[in-house]
Amino acid sequence: MRDSRETFVNHAFVTGYPVKHSRSPLIHGYWLKQLGLEGSYRTHEVAPEAFFDFIVSLRNGQSGYVGGNVTIPHKELAFTLADRPDELSDEIGAANTLWVEDGLVHATNTDGHGFTANLDERCPGWDGADTAVVLGAGGASRAVIQAVRDRGIKTIHVINRTQARAQELADRFGAAVHAQPMQALSEAMTDAGLFINTTSLGMDGSEAPDIDFTVMRPGSVVTDIVYVPLKTPILQQAEEQGFPIVDGLGMLLHQAVPGFEKWFGKRPEVDSTLRQIIIDDMARHA
Ligand code: ATR
Repeated sequence: MRDSRETFVNHAFVTGYPVKHSRSPLIHGYWLKQLGLEGSYRTHEVAPEAFFDFIVSLRNGQSGYVGGNVTIPHKELAFTLADRPDELSDEIGAANTLWVEDGLVHATNTDGHGFTANLDERCPGWDGADTAVVLGAGGASRAVIQAVRDRGIKTIHVINRTQARAQELADRFGAAVHAQPMQALSEAMTDAGLFINTTSLGMDGSEAPDIDFTVMRPGSVVTDIVYVPLKTPILQQAEEQGFPIVDGLGMLLHQAVPGFEKWFGKRPEVDSTLRQIIIDDMARHA
């Protein structure tokens, strides 16, 4: 009898609209090769009006996929349509990782894991801060706020241009989270131990506001979830003012780990070669 485990090849996807610029195939392709696995991981563009049918095709096995990643603009819909969203994705209201089990589509959100694993790798002890400041209240800030709260940071100030959006997140994520207007930035940063930019300010070389980081505790970690450019204007300023900085590329790499393990059965490592592959790709498309 043939052992089906020897011949079974798993296929996974990243879906979005558009999705052709996704770097996820580079990440998963690297790990498949490194671990000597026979699976595949590819982009699968799905228009919003076709997303429901795509989920159905996952559920009934017609797609041939064991699961995959979901990116903009499908993260909320993926959560809504999944049969078994987990608690993390339920609180965020969006999913970035799907897998099929017993004919049901399961969903989670690994962005928060990516965020904390990046800081754990680059700045161990970052979670000793009592107070964190999160700049931005968009979709990307949700997983960050959840992750920081779940690591036990007692006070989280969410500062946003549109304060109502910050308030919505404070209501969603509980008593540790406080919504503040932009004018309160300096006050909120005073004596804080962690600063996180989740806005698009400074992305792709655009303008960023001047920020005085020196009101924070000495040695406070400053991080940005944007990774294009790798050293954003906000990180540049923090570094010039003497603060340790962590760029956002590691978050992209680490958020991919749990999905890979689900689909292909082995937990991969984020290493410096993988990081360099993405940096080289960024340079090619600069
Ligand atoms: P994402 O899902 O990537 O977080 P988003 O939901 O569009 O994207 O959120 C972008 C974030 O950047 C928001 O916090 C946004 O502030 P508003 O909620 O007030 O729109 C913030 N942002 C974008 N451009 C900005 C600017 N020029 N000044 C201040 N904040 C800005």
